[in-house]
This record gives sequence, structure tokens and C-alpha cells, in this order.
Amino acid sequence: MSYRIGILTSGGDCPGLNAAIRGVARAAYQTLDVEIIGIRAGYRGLIDGDYQVMQQSQFSGILTMGGTILGTSRTPFRNMRVVEEDNVDKVHAMKMNYRAMRLDCLVALGGNGTHKTANMLSKEGLNVIGLPKTIDNDIYGTDFTFGFHTAVGIATDVIDRIHTTAASHNRCMVIEIMGNKAGWLTLYSGIAGGADVILLPEIPYDIENVAKVIEERARLDKNFTILAVAEGAMSREEAAMKRKDREAARAQSEYKNISQRVAAQLEQMTGVECRTVIPGHMQRGGSPSAYDRVLSTRFGVHAAHLIKEGRYGLTVALKGNEISENKLEDIAGVPKPVDPDDQIVRTARSMNISFGD
Ligand code: F6P
Repeated sequence: MSYRIGILTSGGDCPGLNAAIRGVARAAYQTLDVEIIGIRAGYRGLIDGDYQVMQQSQFSGILTMGGTILGTSRTPFRNMRVVEEDNVDKVHAMKMNYRAMRLDCLVALGGNGTHKTANMLSKEGLNVIGLPKTIDNDIYGTDFTFGFHTAVGIATDVIDRIHTTAASHNRCMVIEIMGNKAGWLTLYSGIAGGADVILLPEIPYDIENVAKVIEERARLDKNFTILAVAEGAMSREEAAMKRKDREAARAQSEYKNISQRVAAQLEQMTGVECRTVIPGHMQRGGSPSAYDRVLSTRFGVHAAHLIKEGRYGLTVALKGNEISENKLEDIAGVPKPVDPDDQIVRTARSMNISFGD
């Protein structure tokens, strides 16, 4: 039997996407009679019918490349069933293009939003397999997503470099790490980089407690403090608000991001000079780490094996050190926040790292 496999990458990019694409392709070419269709710019390409039949050679030399050779876009799941100004019924268009491409299955590489749409398409009768990527590591049912470890390495490098300049100037440095809803990246890089304070969306902070850390360190002649702050971290007052009210309050604030706000408050409360650093999208760029190259390859190969077995409606997962899979319907839309009682949080607390709570 010959197969036509469609592949797309959707949502924010991350290191390891090309390695995963390559993993699917190489294993598929090796074990199946296959033609691979590259769908451009995520679900946008599936909606618009923007795709190309890939040559085997296009999957060579991409293992170490950051970004995605297919391009990506964010097409929010909440809008998938909404007919907008262009008058396109997106779900209908995706199903029609799947048929026009004569696909046997669609492999969708992406994060939470991508998996929600993948599940919807699966329910609509398409053969879909997901591959979990994101630097946020917040996809339910897999121990790790690919892209996460590389981002931890990049964020840790930033914290390391900030350490030396913080110590030279006796400053408090506030480093804002990506992660709006989940604090995994901040937690891991904060521990790896030796941060004194880690602020996460999942553990609301009291700024008084953070100020006390700076003062206590000064008392011990440790005249600098490093804060790793998730972009979505929130104070206790903010956590008590409804999301709409919180967003409105933030929009009105003089400070457009959390690091600036926290730094200004701490400088005023302690008199210690504070500076902010926002590595931003640097955390998503460049070559994947060796760990992520291996994980992406394992995920990609597993997807090809699922196709060979005719098993769909699934997403690949890492459980312990084994690659397996979950049903899309079981994981789509399920959050994976940091559990404040997670062993790694307790480990950090044992190292006298403050969460500001
Ligand atoms: O989902 C990955 C992520 O990098 C988040 O950590 C961050 O909040 C968001 O994407 C940024 O999105 P964008 O690239 O659209 O600005």
C-alpha cells in the first residue's frame, strides 16, 4: 500500500521541529511506500490549500536547524469554527483540502492549540497524529515536549551571564523567562542558573516576601540577587482577580511587563538598584540541543510507526524513558501547570530558593 502523509507545524516555533519532521520522513521513507506533502504555515496552509509535494532530499541537512522548514502560524482554536470576514468555513476547507491532497493522514506538530484542532479534525473523520512541541512543556500526558530542554539551556545561559554582572554591580537582576500560563521553563532554568527567587504563574507571590530575600541576602553580605520570573507570574492580588480584570489592570499599568513592575517595586522597597533582562524569543531560536534532537527524532519515528500500524487519533508522548502515545481526545485542552507540591518545587525550596509565597 502506498501512503500520502501531510505534515504541518503550527503555533509558536521551537528548536527541534525540523528534527521531528526529519524523523517522521526518514522512518516513513524507510518503512513505507510514501509521498510526503508539506503543508505551509500550519493550519493556515491546510485552510488555504498551500502545500507542496516534498522531495526526499528536502529532509536532509535539517536536523540541527532551528525554526521550521514548513513555516508556522497561529490560527487560534477558538476561531476555527468562526466564519470571519473572508467568509471561509475553516473546518470545511481543511477537510476539503485533506481530500484534495488525497492524504491518508495528517501529522500535526504543535502545542496545546494545535492539539485541540488536531482532536477536532480527528473527530471530523480525518486520520491525525500529533507531536508535542513547545518550550513551555505544558502538554498534558507527556513528561517532556521537544524544544523545552533547548530553551532551558538558553535561559540558563542568560541567568549565568547575568550572575557575574549582578555580582560586580551589587544589583538585583530580574530575568523574565517565557511561559505565560505554565512556569516549567522558569522553574528549570531558575534552578539550573542558581536563581535566588523564582516567580511562577502557578504560585502567586507577595512582593514583601521577595523584598525580604534581598534584605536577608544583604545581611549575609550577598550583595546581589537573581530573580527568574515567568512572563505570566502573578501577585496574590492579581491571582484573586478575574482574568479580564487582571488584564485590564495590567493594560493600565505604567509597566508593560512583569519584570519591569517587579524591579520597580523592589527598588523602591529595598533601595537596591534593580535591572531587568528579557531574553524573549531568543529562547525559541537556534539549533536544538542534543537531548531535543534525540527526543524529536524518537517522536518522529514513533509517528511513522503509528502510521504503518494504521493507528490515528493519537499524539506521541514521552513517559519515563519510553516513547508511547495518548489519545488526542484525552489530552486536548487539558492543562499541565507546575504543581506547587511537585518534587522539583520542594527541591528548590530545600535549596532556600524563594517562590515569594
Ligand atoms: O508557546 C510558546 C511561547 O513562547 C510562550 O512561552 C509565549 O508566551 C508565547 O509563545 C509567545 O508567543 P508569540 O511568539 O506569538 O509572541
